[in-house]
Amino acid sequence: MSNFAATAERELPGGIESELAARAAAGDGILRAVGNTPLIRLAKLYGRESFDAYAKLEGMNPAGSSKDRPALRMIMRAIESGRITSRTTVIESSSGNLGIGLAQVCTYLDLRLVCVVDPNITEQNLLILRAYGAEIEMVTEPAAGGDFLTARVERVKQMIAEMPDTFWCNQYGNAHNPEAHHQTAEEILQALETPPDFLFCATSSCGTLRGCAEFIQSRDLPTKLIAVDAHGSVIFGQPAAKRLIPGHGAARRPELYCTGLEDLHVHITDREAVAGCRQLLRTEAIFAGGSSGAVVSAAFKLRDLIPPHSVCVLILPDRGERYLPTVYSDEWVTKHFGDAGDLLQQIPSAA
Ligand SMILES: Cc1ncc(COP(=O)(O)O)c(C=O)c1O
Repeated sequence: MSNFAATAERELPGGIESELAARAAAGDGILRAVGNTPLIRLAKLYGRESFDAYAKLEGMNPAGSSKDRPALRMIMRAIESGRITSRTTVIESSSGNLGIGLAQVCTYLDLRLVCVVDPNITEQNLLILRAYGAEIEMVTEPAAGGDFLTARVERVKQMIAEMPDTFWCNQYGNAHNPEAHHQTAEEILQALETPPDFLFCATSSCGTLRGCAEFIQSRDLPTKLIAVDAHGSVIFGQPAAKRLIPGHGAARRPELYCTGLEDLHVHITDREAVAGCRQLLRTEAIFAGGSSGAVVSAAFKLRDLIPPHSVCVLILPDRGERYLPTVYSDEWVTKHFGDAGDLLQQIPSAA
C-alpha cells in the first residue's frame, strides 16, 4: 500500500484551472524552449563515405533529450481535454529521459509528479528527478516473470486504483507521444528544404519512429525511415537479451508499434553503440548518449545500401553527460567489451 493517497488533496487558489490551461497552451517560459533543435552537418564522421549526413541534436532540448517533446505534448493535451487539472497527480513509469522531461513540465506547471522507478535507475537520473521535485516510488522486487518493467506498470495501476485524480501518461501507448514528433520531422524538412533520403531514429517507446512515419506518410515523402533498435530488445521480434545502455530498446513491444512504420530496421549491440558515441565525439566533438552512438553505427553499417550523394539525417536523442560512468568510462568499457581503444576501429575515422 503506497502512502501517496493520503497526500493527494491540496488546497488551491481560485482561477488556477484557467491559468494552468493558459500557461500550458502558450508554451510559456522554459516550455517555449522545447523543440526547434539544431540540425547540423556531419562533415567529418563519414568523410570517406559518399553520403551527406546531418544530425538533429535533440540533446539541446532544455531538459536534455528528445523526450521533452512528448512529455510536453502529453501533458498539454491532457490539460486541454480537462483530463488534468491543478489537483491531478501525474504518474509515469520512467527511470530516464521521459521522467526528466515530465519533471520539467510538471514543475513549471506546479503539477504533482510521481515517477515509478526500479533499482536499475542510474544515481544521476534519480538525483535529477529529485532536484526537479518529482516524487519517487521505488519498486524493489521484479514481477513474477522476473522483469521490473511489469512490476513498475503494476505499481502504477495500483496507485491509480488507490489515489483520487491521477493521470497516467503511459508513453508506450499514448498517441500524443508520436504526435509530438510530427514536429521533429517537420523541423528537419524545413531546415533541409528538401526531404532527406534516409532518416535514422532510435527506438524505445516507438514514439519517435511512429511520429516520423506518420509525418512521412501524411506528406507522401520519398524518405526511407530506418529504425535503430538495441540488440536484445524485443520490438522487432528478436529474443530478449541483456542490455547495458539505458533508454534504448524495450523489454516488451510498445502498443505504439505497428508493422510497416519503418522501411528497414537494424539492431545495434551495446559495443557498437559505444563505438559510435566515441567516434562521434572524436570526429565531430558531439558529446551524445548511448542511443545516438547506435544511430551513428547503424548508418555506418548500412553504408553499402545508401546510394552516393544521398542525404541522411540522424536523430540523436540525448547528450553524453548522463553516460559518463558507462559509455565514456574506459574502466566500464574495458570491463564489458575489452580494450576501449579497439572499439574505434569498428568505424574507421574519416580524418
Ligand atoms: C536515450 C534515448 N534514446 C532513444 C529513445 C527512443 O525514443 P522513443 O521512446 O521515441 O522510441 C529514448 C526514449 O526514451 C531515449 O531516452
